[in-house]
Amino acid sequence: MSALKLPNGPQTHPWVQMYQWLTNPLEYIEACAKRYGDIFTLNLGQNFAPQVFISNPQAIQQIFTTDPKQLDSGEPAGIKSPLLGRQSLLALEGKPHQRQRKLLTPPLHGERMLAYGELIRKITEQVISQWQIGETFTVLPSMQAISFQVILKAVFGLEDGPRYEKLKELLIAILNPKFPIIRTILLIFPSLRQDLGAWSHWGKYLRLRQQIDQLIYAEISDRKAQPDSSRTDILSLMMAARDEAGEPMTDLELRDELMTLLVAGHETTATSLSWALYWIHHLPQVREKLLQELDKLGEQPDPNAIFRLPYLNAVCSETLRLYPVAISGLSRLVKSPLQIGEYKFEPGTLLIPSIYLTHHREDLYPESKQFKPERFLERQFSPYEYLPFGGGNRRCIGMAFALFEMKLVLATVLSHWQMELADNKPVQAVRKGLLFSPAGGVRMVVKGRHLQNQPILQTSSSSV
Ligand code: HEM
Repeated sequence: MSALKLPNGPQTHPWVQMYQWLTNPLEYIEACAKRYGDIFTLNLGQNFAPQVFISNPQAIQQIFTTDPKQLDSGEPAGIKSPLLGRQSLLALEGKPHQRQRKLLTPPLHGERMLAYGELIRKITEQVISQWQIGETFTVLPSMQAISFQVILKAVFGLEDGPRYEKLKELLIAILNPKFPIIRTILLIFPSLRQDLGAWSHWGKYLRLRQQIDQLIYAEISDRKAQPDSSRTDILSLMMAARDEAGEPMTDLELRDELMTLLVAGHETTATSLSWALYWIHHLPQVREKLLQELDKLGEQPDPNAIFRLPYLNAVCSETLRLYPVAISGLSRLVKSPLQIGEYKFEPGTLLIPSIYLTHHREDLYPESKQFKPERFLERQFSPYEYLPFGGGNRRCIGMAFALFEMKLVLATVLSHWQMELADNKPVQAVRKGLLFSPAGGVRMVVKGRHLQNQPILQTSSSSV
């Protein structure tokens, strides 16, 4: 632990700091940044190393460009999850992390990613066809249904059928505990995890995980028994991939990476989509501009053309700026003494790139609490000023896939339905596990079908 002086931070008892960080994190870190500046330290108790929150772009640049031998995330930095496993990209570090990233990158990028366009559109159409005119509904569960099916079909490559249905049911159960706060506490304090039988919280969790693993291993084994080189899903591509030594991924690696992609990619995208639909309908001028851009592409436009639309891109960027669903990047553990700006950090210190605080710097984003997509048309931000997907050797591997999915889903929803927010109250961001979600999940009313190039419906939710 650091013998040198750490950046300033609150002097309250570590339990008080932990309580504030768990229950009121956005206001808490904003208050700390206001008082102590864009590099400050939180002390969250004996079980944790001091955590230095950083929202200074030069310092973030240094974090993202420092050699991982000196500063890296993964299990030593406290990133471990009993669901994802120790071979998860998130838990690995060093060479094994590098190797796994190389194997996972191609299926989530370029031509291969674009091949999922039709699948994403079909799934979206099927989910939103269940909405009824005049009906009030909550957006988040529909977006979860879309992103979940996209992952199960694009990543796992599962076809409709009993295994797909069972896996879906079990995954929904494990990812949506009845008491999320208990789950969060158990994940933060491993010593509290006790298997007290099938009825106990942890016991239920372990049994669900075991059933999920059985289904995943059965799928891997079937694929090995009947290889099909024409398959384009990410599991097949991972199974076909070889590292520099010509070695394939082991079954355990495949299982852990599948779970990682599912967990990291499902709720993040669904939550971001719900925020986007909220802002688009909260601000009629944003919706109008988007529809004008989309209508110009005609019916059933090419997914690639949608991906390149400038205003849609700006709307997605601003959505991810204002309330980034992950408010911090992964913690990075200092492994050998490291100078950042005026501070020298000793091994054992945790550095946290604060995405939320960086995105709310008034010098970069004036009126930062306002939704203004134009910011992204008027200027370019560096990867150290705008970082919803983190950066450096840990940058989100699903970034291109998530943006592609967000744009296709938004384009499909807007070109099918005219909707309004059910009420005009501003929506607050609330903690949901590790992510920040719109409170209440965004309630909306379906007003009618969208007719291309028709005058745009005047919404009643007018004020900014
Ligand atoms: C809007 C949606 C998403 C957001 C906002 C998001 C955000 C992030 C952030 C902030 C990180 C940490 C990066 C860092 O600390 O430098 C991350 C890592 C990661 N994300 Fe995403 N993500 C999204 C979607 C996805 C999707 C769709 C997938 C996969 C299909 C995915 C897979 C991952 C993985 C595997 C990592 C760990 C990378 C590593 O440790 O090398 N994410 N993501």
